[in-house]
Amino acid sequence: MSFSQRLAVLVSGKKIADGKPEDVVRDPEVVRAYLASSISIENVHAAYGAVRVIEDVSIKVNAGETVTLLGTNGNGKSTLMKCVMASCTRPPAASS
Ligand SMILES: Nc1ncnc2c1ncn2[C@@H]1O[C@H](COP(=O)(O)OP(=O)(O)O)[C@@H](O)[C@H]1O
Ligand SMILES: [Mg+2]
Repeated sequence: MSFSQRLAVLVSGKKIADGKPEDVVRDPEVVRAYLASSISIENVHAAYGAVRVIEDVSIKVNAGETVTLLGTNGNGKSTLMKCVMASCTRPPAASS
């Protein structure tokens, strides 16, 4: 299944690759930036005030895997990604 014909990759606001997805995912800089480490979250819950949006979600994405999160509008995809990003190390500050 193919979701895109072109893939652009940003790191700290700088474009590091742009091209056919099958080429970009093999780019050494892209692999180093995004694909060489695993991500996992366990038993995550999230709410906006009293509105519970994420309920006990655990996900592990292994190094080299590309995972697509599907769901209809308002199902919590962006909220889950915010939880994942909050659990990641901040990107390094831009050098001057
Ligand atoms: N900042 C926010 N404040 C209050 N409710 C929010 C906020 N962001 C999202 N929501 C609500 O949380 C639920 C999940 O939203 P969201 O994670 O954006 O879903 P998706 O990305 O799958 O469309 C929706 O009901 C949405 O209205
Ligand atoms: Mg969204």
